[in-house]
Amino acid sequence: MGKSSVDQRDVYYRLCKSEGYRARSAFKLLHLDEEFDLFRGVRNACDFCAAPGSWSQVLSRKLRSAKPDCKIVSVDLQPMAHLPGVTIIHADITLPSTAKLMIDAMSGEKADLIVCDGAPEVTGIHDLDAYLHSQLLLAAFTLALPLLAPKGTLIFKVFLSPSDPKGEIMVSQLEPFFAAPPKDQKVHIPLGGLLFIDEAIAQHYRGGGCDIAGYDVYGRRGGVWIRKPRSSRPGSAEAFLVCRNFKATSLPAKFELDSMSASSVLSLDCFRPVQTNSASESEVREWNRIKGYTVGDMSGWED
Ligand SMILES: C[S@@+](CC[C@H](N)C(=O)[O-])C[C@H]1O[C@@H](n2cnc3c(N)ncnc32)[C@H](O)[C@@H]1O
Repeated sequence: MGKSSVDQRDVYYRLCKSEGYRARSAFKLLHLDEEFDLFRGVRNACDFCAAPGSWSQVLSRKLRSAKPDCKIVSVDLQPMAHLPGVTIIHADITLPSTAKLMIDAMSGEKADLIVCDGAPEVTGIHDLDAYLHSQLLLAAFTLALPLLAPKGTLIFKVFLSPSDPKGEIMVSQLEPFFAAPPKDQKVHIPLGGLLFIDEAIAQHYRGGGCDIAGYDVYGRRGGVWIRKPRSSRPGSAEAFLVCRNFKATSLPAKFELDSMSASSVLSLDCFRPVQTNSASESEVREWNRIKGYTVGDMSGWED
């Protein structure tokens, strides 16, 4: 029996078959939801790089039960089989013309949740793969800007690298767009028991109505986190950036959809100087022992 067939028979592979998902990736989104309560209050959603469609299946199952007329728009380079309540667009997210297709498919409405599990085709040349993925990420972020609703949530797949093993550079670049409360902020609401403050706020505002700065209407803390859900294979460099509480006002004044073109794609670097400590030599050595870019395993692809 080949190694890959053994690998594929893990618990999530079997669960994926029994629960009717198209790929075991579905569990990565479900596991992020366990921590972040992603689907509450979401009216519309977009799925970038969606094929074969397991994340879109999760969106369809979760959102349509709460709001049958929600809009879900999914896009991929590959054709994708029909899913109930999902508009599928066959396009390249790096092309500016795709933004117009997505906005039209959303009928001008914004998405409260945008997810992107995109990965470029792996060449095996690690620097090139890293570069291609960074370009895809930048395209996904640029495409998300005109689509994401104020206070919305954006999730990207990333591959951590030896030069930024904890993803601090990416977190630092995205933080200006996602409002978080100051770390030492005190809030005056009736808090119960021994709950952590965020949990207490979230419980208090479960039905909506929170207007505390840095939290969304359901009392969920804004900001940017990097997470590796338990269904993501431990040997893979894959992780996910969860960005919550979008601050639409933080867009650069000159940002206009019509001006998006191959030559005017946004560069994240222009927004804020990076604040991070670069990895120490021992961290890089440690990282080199982990399967990842260094051995060509971008196994977010494994599905
Ligand atoms: C890991 S798969 C996504 C799996 C999906 N989340 C699921 O659960 O079924 C990565 C996808 O990224 C897509 N992709 C890569 N580059 C793309 C691009 N430039 N535009 C659109 N899709 C792209 C690939 O076609 C592939 O289907």
